Amino acid sequence: MERLKRFGVSIEEKLLDRFDRYIKKTRFKTRSQAIRDLIRKELVKEEWLKSREAAAGAIIMVYDHHQRELMDNLVHLQHHHQEIIISSQHIHLDRRMCLEVIVVKGRIDKVYALEAELKAAKGVKHASLAKSTLGRDI
Ligand code: NI
Repeated sequence: MERLKRFGVSIEEKLLDRFDRYIKKTRFKTRSQAIRDLIRKELVKEEWLKSREAAAGAIIMVYDHHQRELMDNLVHLQHHHQEIIISSQHIHLDRRMCLEVIVVKGRIDKVYALEAELKAAKGVKHASLAKSTLGRDI
């Protein structure tokens, strides 16, 4: 386990009260845990601003597989972006709708490009990118 360092934080009373109420709603046991989580969240957000850096994440999407040419189109797109796709999982939601999770790892600009192309494919009802991290220095 990594060595922990302590530091003092000055904070307005009202803000701290509100933060404590927030912590109660979460499952964090201590303020330190909650603060570490917020810091990491911000750092990951910042990582995703650097388009040439690498990150990891997942694109989740729902589409209608009856849509003409959509299946061919999606397979084609994924082959085209295979250097950043680690795996994908297809779940049949009902007779018509499919849910797919595409796990990605690679350059951020390429991940955004894939997300944009998937979103724009006709028949895709919803696509959303979960931005995570490779976990280095975090
Ligand atoms: Ni399906």
